[in-house]
Amino acid sequence: MVPCSLPGQGVFGPPKDRGAALAVLREAVSSGVDHIDTSDFYGPHITNQLIREALSPYPAELVIVSKIGARRGGDGSWIPAFSREELAQAVHDNLHNLGLDVLEVVNLRSMFNAHHPVDASLEAPLTVLAELQRQGEVRQIGLSNVTPTQIAEGRKHCEIVCVQNHYNLAHREDDALINSLGHDGIAYVPFFPLGGFKPLQSAILSGIAARLGATPMQVALAWLLHRAPNILLIPGTSSLAHLRENLATASLRLPEDAVRELAAITI
Ligand SMILES: NC(=O)c1ccc[n+]([C@@H]2O[C@H](COP(=O)([O-])OP(=O)(O)OC[C@H]3O[C@@H](n4cnc5c(N)ncnc54)[C@H](OP(=O)(O)O)[C@@H]3O)[C@@H](O)[C@H]2O)c1
Repeated sequence: MVPCSLPGQGVFGPPKDRGAALAVLREAVSSGVDHIDTSDFYGPHITNQLIREALSPYPAELVIVSKIGARRGGDGSWIPAFSREELAQAVHDNLHNLGLDVLEVVNLRSMFNAHHPVDASLEAPLTVLAELQRQGEVRQIGLSNVTPTQIAEGRKHCEIVCVQNHYNLAHREDDALINSLGHDGIAYVPFFPLGGFKPLQSAILSGIAARLGATPMQVALAWLLHRAPNILLIPGTSSLAHLRENLATASLRLPEDAVRELAAITI
């Protein structure tokens, strides 16, 4: 959960309210969150530095998942960073800014297109990441913004423990992929679970939320939890109120008629 929303607008620069960002991180972990998704290119560096300040020394059960494969331009742009030197530097920057000796999970973020997966070979960067794993700097490897073909290719080079792709109620291209990863015991971690920079809006969603006495965002998260057992949630927030609301989703059960209605959403 959490970090994309913590830095400034466009995931660039310092947070609007540094104290609030630290409070969200601390309350998340004290409320039982044991999975935080981050990257040193958030900020850049700032999100990892906030995580370290708020949470280090880290509780043993906390898994911090990072990602590499991009860097930021001075204007906040996202630039592919797939060379051997850039990948190694990104791992070292994550270790340094998080204050860790080893990164528990690192996702290789495909950047052939920043917005959607493109079927092109990831062999070269994955080979570098697997070397960093053998050297002990990375424990486990995942992939992000990838196609089923890239995942199959990746699994020939190293064990892939998770896939982080764009998926939510209104964006369901990965339906078959989620099922096949579940079959193989691989976690699927949807990014933009609430719609990202443009939070989900739908009359069906709002209607169901009102019926259940919940908020639309809670229903959107509950739908993901209901969707498949291999889905792990990482909703981003910079707000304590939203954090509490999102955590309460864990006890929200969706009746079957609501699930059927939600299946009709295309936004
Ligand atoms: N692999 C990738 O390429 C990739 C890309 C994007 C994101 N990510 C990861 O995915 C995580 C989630 O993505 P995201 O944060 O961009 O998108 P998101 O979780 O879909 O949406 C976050 C947005 O929803 C708002 N929000 C959160 N809870 C809410 C609530 N209960 N009610 C109303 N609004 C709420 C947040 O605003 P407030 O701050 O006001 O709560 C923020 O604007 C990130 O933390 C990041 O680690 C990965």
